[in-house]
Amino acid sequence: MRVIILGSAAGGGVPQWNCGCPNCTDARHDNRSRTQSSVAVSADGERWILLNASPDLRMQLAAHHELWPRGRRGSGVGAVILTDGEIDHTLGLLLMRESPAKLPVYAPGGVAALLDAAWPLYRVLSAYTCVESRLLEEGRPIRLTDRTGAPLGICCAAAAVARRPPRYARTASPATFDVGLRLEDERTGGTLAYVPTAGAIDEAVRRVASGADLLLFDGTFWSDGELRAVGGGDVPTAREMGHLPVGEPGGSLELLPRLGAKRTVLVHINNTNPVLCRSSAERQRVEAAGIVVGEDGMEFEL
Ligand code: MLT
Ligand code: MN
Ligand code: ZN
Repeated sequence: MRVIILGSAAGGGVPQWNCGCPNCTDARHDNRSRTQSSVAVSADGERWILLNASPDLRMQLAAHHELWPRGRRGSGVGAVILTDGEIDHTLGLLLMRESPAKLPVYAPGGVAALLDAAWPLYRVLSAYTCVESRLLEEGRPIRLTDRTGAPLGICCAAAAVARRPPRYARTASPATFDVGLRLEDERTGGTLAYVPTAGAIDEAVRRVASGADLLLFDGTFWSDGELRAVGGGDVPTAREMGHLPVGEPGGSLELLPRLGAKRTVLVHINNTNPVLCRSSAERQRVEAAGIVVGEDGMEFEL
């Protein structure tokens, strides 16, 4: 299985349009940006599955020749999996509306319901090309297929991770709004665990991530109050947003090595996170733990 990190940043990207924090300021001066969270995977190198649809999808698809059009019209994107209904993981679906072919979009039931109601992407897109909404059930591994039903060579199991509904749907009835994925190449047996949002490292995360060849994990915030320090009093903490801070006692830096993944890479990294600064003490602590800070364009073969 080939894996490409298309975008390594959390919502807002780096630099974020309204942020003057040191990371965003440096990124502007050095012309180094990070696009918003998405990963592409493929078993055959031809047909790709997008894990989340980033607001930066247009640039991301242009940046990787593997994802360029096939012939005069067409795309290497065979399917999309949504791990949550957040704006930074779903807005990109709107940017694929030009396709005349149906695009299979796998999502947990709670997310598909949001995209028909509180954040009505599916309804809006139905006037263009249809998204073919497919239920991503928890627990049971499913064989992913393209729009014709042809297997894509990858099995996917989803587990509900600890979080809350998105901010635009705080009053939504209880449902699964966030999952972690365990993807397995049917031929090589290579396994990818993809958990870009998690409020805890619990049994669900252990099921998805234990012993994986590669774990891509929520690196949104270093500390609980990080966003508040930049954004002021009304801003939620990391834990209130459902992101386990990396660097706090009981945080992911402490717990991730116990999952036994062969490689662990942080993704969905917020622009305020000090691990983005290569010379920071926080970055050194992450690297000393054998964990990698994800970058746009990183590739893996599993
Ligand atoms: C999140 O991951 O917590 C959300 O995407 C935050 C947001 O951008 O609204
Ligand atoms: Mn997000
Ligand atoms: Zn910033």
